[in-house]
Amino acid sequence: MHSYTDIAKLFEERFITTLPFPETPSTLYDPCRYLLQLGGKRIRPVLCVMANELFNEISEDAWYAAMGIEMFHSFSLVHDDIMDNAPLRRGKPALHAKYGLTSGILCGDVMNIYAYEQIAQIRKALPQVLHLFNRTAIAVCEGQQLDMDFESRNDVRIEEYIHMITLKTSVLLACSLKMGALVSGALGDNANKLYAFGENLGIAFQLQDDYLDAFGDSSKLGKQNGGDIKANKKTYLLLKAMENASPQQRREAERLMKMDTEDKVATFLAIYTDTGADTACREAVALYSKRAFDCLEDVAIPSKRKEPLRELANYLLLRDK
Ligand code: IPE
Ligand code: IPE
Ligand code: MG
Ligand code: MG
Ligand code: MG
Repeated sequence: MHSYTDIAKLFEERFITTLPFPETPSTLYDPCRYLLQLGGKRIRPVLCVMANELFNEISEDAWYAAMGIEMFHSFSLVHDDIMDNAPLRRGKPALHAKYGLTSGILCGDVMNIYAYEQIAQIRKALPQVLHLFNRTAIAVCEGQQLDMDFESRNDVRIEEYIHMITLKTSVLLACSLKMGALVSGALGDNANKLYAFGENLGIAFQLQDDYLDAFGDSSKLGKQNGGDIKANKKTYLLLKAMENASPQQRREAERLMKMDTEDKVATFLAIYTDTGADTACREAVALYSKRAFDCLEDVAIPSKRKEPLRELANYLLLRDK
């Protein structure tokens, strides 16, 4: 069994040395190469390959699935940074910030198509895999739209938030695991249990992402701090803070959401801490992680084989980047 570090290294080598882009037009492909070579944690491809190795030796199909998934994820980040008006990604200027908006749109589009080209090379269970990938990609778009719609709403409920992050983030983690399992020939039941593990892990992962956006260290994250606050994103932190706020704190938060002042981020952080929203968010991460680990235990495979997945999940939930 291989660890996160082992698989991430093997993946990185393959991914970067086999990038499918031609030389020209370099104005289209240089920005794509720029983003993909900046790295990132590569957790989705690693989840896919780990799920594959749970049942069998790592197969070529698993690597194709992993590359397609990471290409799709990277495309979604390019468009996400345009939508979120985010200047930084993976420690460097976001693709659209460096190359312009039209490059951001078109590079995202072409990366999505190249992602499908990777998936199309899978031999085992391709119809099932493709169906899963399509449904996942549609869900991500739906989640991203809800995320945008919520910016201008002030009555978002926690359940709606969880639904939104399930769509925009967690189904892709779940899909990565299930694809790895499907191309190994795993039984449907085990593949579905891994999917449930990924869904809960993905919710915990996005809760943690929201927490880090507010309280993390920008130099480690490689993203700006407070971007969610600036954009009035309806994160768990914000929703919990509003739920627990005194009338005065609520008025202050509502006033700030209509503005773009210098002190907006600092004031919101104080509200999050004073209302206990920060602690509530940590508790929610713990709750969904526990659910994730329970689902993993249900996969009918000797417990020892699951150790790399457990380690990766633990790393993700304690991460600071
Ligand atoms: C960022 O994903 C987008 C979210 C779903 C939160 P990652 O945190 O996995 O980003 P990279 O790939 O490591 O840069
Ligand atoms: C992004 O969520 C989810 C997708 C890209 C589909 P975020 O907007 O929170 O991700 P970051 O924080 O910019 O990485
Ligand atoms: Mg974003
Ligand atoms: Mg976003
Ligand atoms: Mg975020």
